[in-house]
Amino acid sequence: MAYTVPTLTDYSTAALEKAGGECIAACTAEATEVRSDLDLKSFRDRWIGRKNGVLTQVNDLWLKPAPKEAKREAGMRVNEIRTAIADIIDKAEHLRLELSTAAIESVDISLPGIRRPIGAEHPVIKTMHEIIGVFQRLGYSVAEGPVVETDYYNFEALNFPPNHPARDTQDTLFIAGQQAKPQRERLLLRTHTSPVQIRTMEKMRPPIRIVIPGTVHRNDPPDASHSPMFHQIEGLAVDKNITFGDLKGTLDHAMKALFGSSVKTHFRPSFFPFTEPSAELYVTCFICGGSGKRGADPCRPCKQTGWIEVLGCGMVDPNVFEFVKDNGYDPKTVSGFAFGMGVDRLALLKYGVDDLQYFFQGDVRFLEQFG
Ligand code: DAH
Repeated sequence: MAYTVPTLTDYSTAALEKAGGECIAACTAEATEVRSDLDLKSFRDRWIGRKNGVLTQVNDLWLKPAPKEAKREAGMRVNEIRTAIADIIDKAEHLRLELSTAAIESVDISLPGIRRPIGAEHPVIKTMHEIIGVFQRLGYSVAEGPVVETDYYNFEALNFPPNHPARDTQDTLFIAGQQAKPQRERLLLRTHTSPVQIRTMEKMRPPIRIVIPGTVHRNDPPDASHSPMFHQIEGLAVDKNITFGDLKGTLDHAMKALFGSSVKTHFRPSFFPFTEPSAELYVTCFICGGSGKRGADPCRPCKQTGWIEVLGCGMVDPNVFEFVKDNGYDPKTVSGFAFGMGVDRLALLKYGVDDLQYFFQGDVRFLEQFG
């Protein structure tokens, strides 16, 4: 039943309050029925229309005939009702406006859609996954370690003598404020992934076969072939009777799997404190096929030699095993080999990119070529 304004016989405070409350409640309820602009118009007319609106009736039926003593209170009450109704109408109008503009927005089908291009692996990460995959298929598992490392794991346990030049601030980024600590506890940004060799051997007894991907840092200013942050993959195999022959066979297989079966490998003697003997591994240049030439021009990536250095490797130095001897790594009973390669450099060669910095600038025009 639609609300009608009753005539008042009782002008007590309670009666006025009751009548006013009912009137406002009715208005509130009817406001929820407004569905269209037309509804809104009749709603307004019904409640505040000058001629016969509810508010006018309230004036005529409640205020005008009120006895003298009740005039003041009835007047206040009617004012309250007027404000409340104005408020309710105002809200209903706003709601209409909001709903009608929202409808306009949602039906404009001529606007272009939002394009969300599909992401792709970064070329360095892609190369990293390829290398890891090759070793996983040989039965290797993946280990990781912290980027902020102690001097002990980065140098001492890898058999770097106390004054080895690699410990110099020229190469290593040290964390500030570490002077009060003993040298082995001082923190630095790891300069290679080799410290995870020790960390893994502390946790796992032999035999182990692991690859260790990760970021490393060196105090090198960025240029076409250097970056203060780059990526390495370390490898470590320890068991009884592991020989240099195992090292050569494993890495030869890995290089063929990565660069193609016609690639040849070549080991040259080298030095690393944590391997003995140590070697650098070269592969026939996969740009020029080993000829040193590209057509009539000299091949730049291999500096015309036909060979490209891809990693450092060697047999784990017995001095390194001494640090983890208690976990089953007695150098008299176990032996092993290790290797470490720079992933960014390999990605650079693989994709024929001529400046390492492209990898780190985040330019979509460069990156989308690898998608
Ligand atoms: N850690 C060495 C570097 O960053 C690379 C390396 C060489 C790792 C020989 C090895 C290895 O595991 O046996 O230059």
